[in-house]
Amino acid sequence: MNATSPSPAAGPSYAAPVRPAAGFLPASKIGLVAMVGRGDPDVIPLWFGEGDLTTPAFINEAANRALAAGETFYTWQRGIPPLREAIAEYTRRVYGIACGPERITVTGSGMQAILLTCQALIGRGDNAVIVGPIWPNIVHCVELQEGEPRQIDLAFDGANWSLDLDRLFAAVDERTRLIFVNSPNNPTGWTMPSEMQKALLDFCRERRIWLVADEVYARLVYDRPVAPSFLEHAGPDDPLIVVQSFSKPWAMTGWRLGWVTSPDSFGDLLAKLTQINTSGSPAFLQHGALAAIREGEPFLAEMVERCRVGREVVLQGLARFPRVRIARPEAAFYAFFGVDGMDDSLEFAKRLVREAKVGLAPGTAFGDGGEGYLRLCFASAPERLQRAMDRMAPLLS
Ligand SMILES: Cc1ncc(COP(=O)(O)O)c(C=O)c1O
Repeated sequence: MNATSPSPAAGPSYAAPVRPAAGFLPASKIGLVAMVGRGDPDVIPLWFGEGDLTTPAFINEAANRALAAGETFYTWQRGIPPLREAIAEYTRRVYGIACGPERITVTGSGMQAILLTCQALIGRGDNAVIVGPIWPNIVHCVELQEGEPRQIDLAFDGANWSLDLDRLFAAVDERTRLIFVNSPNNPTGWTMPSEMQKALLDFCRERRIWLVADEVYARLVYDRPVAPSFLEHAGPDDPLIVVQSFSKPWAMTGWRLGWVTSPDSFGDLLAKLTQINTSGSPAFLQHGALAAIREGEPFLAEMVERCRVGREVVLQGLARFPRVRIARPEAAFYAFFGVDGMDDSLEFAKRLVREAKVGLAPGTAFGDGGEGYLRLCFASAPERLQRAMDRMAPLLS
């Protein structure tokens, strides 16, 4: 069968053939749980990766001003120059490294950066080695390119998550085009130690494989100002692509803006892919992002504090249930906990919606290594989280 021939098994039936790689894309398992509670105002929604705060006013106002000033035309594919310069300055300030705007590309979300990167790197028969459990979208991007995702899961010893780097290396072969690491990790909160980042980057450099580092949670850390970054070990021409996003630190999930730090030449390649995608992110929104980057530290500090309080409410709440196992998350805004005796997290999450009116993400959404777990986003008001913990008691006890 060639890639465009009709496939009776390619999901729903279409008016004309679709590529099987697209037709087979699965529905989001988090979405399947959310469907159960759709339209029920009583449900406490902690299933998605976003908090309950709206974007702060100073960011909205900057975008409004740009809109009123007529910033409504096609724009730069790699982002407006002042934003690229400001992100380079932010990179120097936050990580203490040299970085110029030629390494920065603004994208239409972290997600788009990952998709374009896969379009650039993965072809049929190639593979991507991915550290899991992981937010599933990267896996689907590889599959859409007719590549093979090879997920190597972290191990949980009852207290901590850890990665066996030798297992990761052993999964690499001559068709491996990229290694994907999301640190701090969604869903576990695991953060790759700096020495391990260095060893992995050395390996990729030697093997001429791209290292795609998803660092969208870099600033949501509880024991230091920023998580260790691969950027601290890389020169401007290393095969490193770091994906970041405005979504999480500045409560901008609906804006769809992110950025990539990469060698200049890879940024130019992203520009060509952007040209045949959105042609560039809306200029007036980028002015809002500029305000976030330049003036966003106080809001970010509030956000981290809010999440720190939320984390305590949830950890204390879960400690009441002997069936629950969890590693204390030092970063990101998720509690990823195992429940003894729960072998179908999708069904269990649906029951939680129906019977407890609490919406969580099923662990199976994050790959095989996630089955047996549930993910709760604690970027929410403490009272709301407390109510959720109380409501879940009958099912978790
Ligand atoms: C690990 C990870 N990477 C990337 C993203 C993409 O973020 P966005 O597309 O909103 O920039 C998310 C969002 O949930 C995420 O959890």
